[in-house]
Amino acid sequence: MIEQIYTKRLYLRKMKMDDAHSLFNIWSDPEVTKFMNITNFTHEDQAKEMIGLFEQLAEERKAIRFTIIEKESNEIIGSCGFNSFEVDNASAEIGYDLAKAYWGKGYAPECISALIDYAFTTLNINKIEVKIEPGNINSIKVVKKLNFTFEGTFQENEESKESFYDINVYSLLK
Ligand SMILES: CC(C)(COP(=O)(O)OP(=O)(O)OC[C@H]1O[C@@H](n2cnc3c(N)ncnc32)[C@H](O)[C@@H]1OP(=O)(O)O)[C@@H](O)C(=O)NCCC(=O)NCCS
Repeated sequence: MIEQIYTKRLYLRKMKMDDAHSLFNIWSDPEVTKFMNITNFTHEDQAKEMIGLFEQLAEERKAIRFTIIEKESNEIIGSCGFNSFEVDNASAEIGYDLAKAYWGKGYAPECISALIDYAFTTLNINKIEVKIEPGNINSIKVVKKLNFTFEGTFQENEESKESFYDINVYSLLK
């Protein structure tokens, strides 16, 4: 599995424990986590735990998360990656998050395009899915820009923050 990807303005590299402080700053912002399946973190240890989980999943080849670095500033600005792979069906699910200060610059589409290219050309993936809460308008705009198709809404499909949430599934075929 690839450990780094360069795009025009960004550098994606496999997430590591040293990123904990910067990622905590992002994952502690309730505006960022509003539509994610985590409550905003209050302790840096929670970021370490999350990174540890991603490291374990990467080792088991079940997922891979990249830290997103803005080339120009060398700042850590978010994360993205493959949340899961369904090997038998050649499908993968993508996830992403950015610090609020970096929203609206087209960075998420830039990262996701790179993940899509890698998945279709190197991993032989046939179908990419993104799961989005219906209220997450910004994320829905991103997948629409990338020509994903809306497949439907799964009612109360995910339990997080002590509630059940509807999930919209968007997909892109090779
Ligand atoms: C969803 C997200 C990754 C989009 O990333 P992005 O790089 O800002 O994407 P874009 O630049 O294409 O902007 C998408 C839309 O966000 C909205 N937006 C942009 N800047 C914004 C800002 N500062 N504040 C609020 N909304 C903003 C715009 O409506 C924009 O659509 P437009 O390009 O048609 O104007 C980002 O908003 C984010 O990290 N959200 C929190 C985490 C999250 O929800 N992740 C996805 C889980 S499915």
